[in-house]
Amino acid sequence: MHEDIQEVLFSEEEIAARVAEIGAQITNDYADAVAQDGRGVILISVLRGAAIFMADLARQIELPLEMDYMAVSSYGNGAKSSGVVRILKDLSSEIEGRHVIVAEDILDSGLTLKYLMKNLASRKPASIEVATLLRKKTLQQAKIDCRYIGFECPDQFIVGYGLDFAERYRNLPYIGILKPEVY
Ligand code: IMP
Ligand code: MG
Repeated sequence: MHEDIQEVLFSEEEIAARVAEIGAQITNDYADAVAQDGRGVILISVLRGAAIFMADLARQIELPLEMDYMAVSSYGNGAKSSGVVRILKDLSSEIEGRHVIVAEDILDSGLTLKYLMKNLASRKPASIEVATLLRKKTLQQAKIDCRYIGFECPDQFIVGYGLDFAERYRNLPYIGILKPEVY
């Protein structure tokens, strides 16, 4: 695996430090809301890329917390996301009246997340925010308010820490640029 990586963008240590910072921020931002509500926040991740980020983030949030998962597939030609999304697995929990945080691995065109946020908002949560580990610097990106952003990254194909190419490299502990000759 390691020999397919052109350049490491974020090391295991850098990721851990940033995830800890975001967790501390969330703990601070939601302490009052959780105390008032009496129920914890619900962390939602979109399978499969964000699962690793969410697992680490959850352990850095010192509040009562639930975890839930959605699986989606986007229609279209595959190479670029079309923004039309089919829900393959829906949440197990009701989110009406709850404080929801959606954990994402990477915001690229933003079309998937835009659809998802609209869908989740229609279920009337008390609040809904996005925590994305990475945001790609691309020219065209749907406008999405991300309250928590781990790192800005270049518009190149990257893998590791949950991000895949053809389902591989998710288990790399760091995030790096994949050598173009690999794909
Ligand atoms: P979009 O924001 O709707 O374009 O799609 C975002 C999704 O595409 C992410 O959740 C990833 O699963 C995937 N994705 C986008 N860019 C990359 C990348 O550089 N490497 C691996 N997956 C990516
Ligand atoms: Mg994803």
